[in-house]
Amino acid sequence: MTRTVAVTGVTGFIGKHIADNLLACGFKVRGLTRKQRPAPGGNFTWVQGSLEDSDSLAELVRGADSVVHCAGQVRGHNEDVFTQCNVNGSLRLMQAAKKSASCIRFLYISSLAARSPELSWYAKSKYDSEQLLTALTPRNLSLGIFRPTAVYGPGDKELKAVFDWLLRGLLPRLGPEHAQLSFLYVSDLAEAVCQWLISEVHNPVPYELCDGIPGYSWKQLQEMGSQVRNGRVQLIGIPLPLLKRIADISVFASRLAGKEPMLTYSKIRELTHDDWSASNKSVSEDINWLPKVSLERALREGLF
Ligand SMILES: NC(=O)c1ccc[n+]([C@@H]2O[C@H](COP(=O)([O-])OP(=O)(O)OC[C@H]3O[C@@H](n4cnc5c(N)ncnc54)[C@H](OP(=O)(O)O)[C@@H]3O)[C@@H](O)[C@H]2O)c1
Repeated sequence: MTRTVAVTGVTGFIGKHIADNLLACGFKVRGLTRKQRPAPGGNFTWVQGSLEDSDSLAELVRGADSVVHCAGQVRGHNEDVFTQCNVNGSLRLMQAAKKSASCIRFLYISSLAARSPELSWYAKSKYDSEQLLTALTPRNLSLGIFRPTAVYGPGDKELKAVFDWLLRGLLPRLGPEHAQLSFLYVSDLAEAVCQWLISEVHNPVPYELCDGIPGYSWKQLQEMGSQVRNGRVQLIGIPLPLLKRIADISVFASRLAGKEPMLTYSKIRELTHDDWSASNKSVSEDINWLPKVSLERALREGLF
């Protein structure tokens, strides 16, 4: 029988890749959308609603045997914005999955940031939601938690800008020189989701996911960019006071536009953290997944 997966965040960057890959793997997908969208047909069904609306979440998970929870608030001007969506929204979705007679697996797309909740409102909300989901998961439901590092690929806007500049010969350094960074190509993450769903693994301990290189230094990124473009790359350290002024402008402009800002002082603490190294060891052992696309290959082949 074809398995049905309820997916949140399908209208966003990562969720779209996850849903497309699930369909390609033969799953039926029910995707949550906040806006009304035309029915695409085939094995995909839209369910209109939001993480704030419990009735729509009950409808989303109806008849699904698995949930992939990818929706999340990634920008915001205060802690409450993140808590409302990432913590309270995850709670409502778990309650809907528990009430359904059908759900037996629940995969939460958290973030590597959850490893350091003290850094930012976003990181804390991801950590708190992991804790809450773990506490609330009943015995008959298998919980999985993914902590992907910085994800890039078609549809992403944040890292694409950085890589575009790198290939033009300029790399702005946000954190300390000794910082370790890691990356993950979006189709590798989508493949890991599929692999988790078909593996009979029961391990609620968070899995870190990266492209297989545990940590890149800024210098390594500079050298890689230089090799790929066959020319010089200038590494320019952005001083903290300048970063803060850019955040001030971003917060002010977002308020005028009625949107949530990406760059805030809270986000700066996350961006300038010195250890974003990651390890695939646990996830590779448990679900037999290995990433296929290294950052160097993505840069060479323009896969973003
Ligand atoms: N991008 C990364 O580097 C990265 C790394 C690690 C983890 N993650 C996690 O991956 C997930 C997806 O990130 P992304 O980069 O794809 O972000 P994104 O493009 O901003 O997508 C966010 C998705 O969540 C949905 N959403 C937000 N609030 C919602 C609500 N209250 N109710 C229903 N849906 C809601 C959005 O719906 P609308 O289209 O209606 O806005 C959108 O589909 C997030 O949970 C994030 O924490 C991302």
